[in-house]
Amino acid sequence: MLEEVVQWLGEISPRTIVDGTYGGGGHALRLLELLPSGQGHLIGLDRDPAVSRRVEREDHDSRLQVFVGSYELTSKAMDVVGVERIDAMLLDLGLSSDQLADQDRGFSFTHPESPLDLRFDPDAGPTAAEWLAWHRESEIADAIFKFGEERFSRRIAREVVARRRREQPVATVGDLVEVCRRCVPRSRGHRSRGHDIHPATRTFQALRIVVNDELGALERTLEKAPDWLAPGGRLAAISFHSLEDRLVKNAFRNDPRWEVLTRKPVRPSEQEVRRNPRSRSAKLRVAQRAVDPFAGPSG
Ligand SMILES: C[S@@+](CC[C@H](N)C(=O)[O-])C[C@H]1O[C@@H](n2cnc3c(N)ncnc32)[C@H](O)[C@@H]1O
Repeated sequence: MLEEVVQWLGEISPRTIVDGTYGGGGHALRLLELLPSGQGHLIGLDRDPAVSRRVEREDHDSRLQVFVGSYELTSKAMDVVGVERIDAMLLDLGLSSDQLADQDRGFSFTHPESPLDLRFDPDAGPTAAEWLAWHRESEIADAIFKFGEERFSRRIAREVVARRRREQPVATVGDLVEVCRRCVPRSRGHRSRGHDIHPATRTFQALRIVVNDELGALERTLEKAPDWLAPGGRLAAISFHSLEDRLVKNAFRNDPRWEVLTRKPVRPSEQEVRRNPRSRSAKLRVAQRAVDPFAGPSG
């Protein structure tokens, strides 16, 4: 939803922009064009150190600075760059195509031999395989249910723990896919937006959310972002599943510091979905930092 983001953020002629999820830099490259010629700042953040290693090798615009770290740390990056307020911020949540293609990360079912890692930052916290090895059956089932909305979470957790007892713990992508195939019937229950989904999709989503504390990072950022944005500044958030979208929707709606600009989420065009089927579930919401959130109605 590159063009939609560019339109919403471009309307306010921003001078300082944060791309909190830099990834492959596709959005950032277009966002740079919104800055006044030769001026302004684009701050990029990404938890994945591979992103900044790649940026260092590239020749890029001097107005762009990319930091390794969670978008929660935007104010630290602002201090380093020397800006007090930003005009626009983008969060394009989820994982990048580079991460999906990387055989060492465990994000894709097409690499069954990959270690079950699922961390955005390979230096932080336990891998998904370690998480499954260290938690109780009930905790595993609860997490898969809560963060994957997977109806067969109890069966999956039971099978994960049974494998541990047999001293064949879930260690690779293929191991977890096999567990999910055994536990999740391919049926009408496993459809999303009219499409059949892989029996392991919801479980992988849940574990990715857990090992990266994805919802925690998003919630804390939605709470802090109004302090980073100048009055009238905008935050655009693209989410890929209902748990993320609900957090964004509720934060925008319930916090008086936000003025919601998109009453309904913006969806990708049919053309974009045809070109990139992964965009099918994307939802874009945009809000503006209220100029004076505590001013009552005039008169
Ligand atoms: C969908 S991709 C972004 C793609 C990017 N907009 C582009 O045009 O290439 C999401 C990125 O967000 C990063 N990410 C996930 N959680 C993050 C967090 N809390 N802070 C910073 N980056 C995060 C991932 O590592 C991934 O590179």
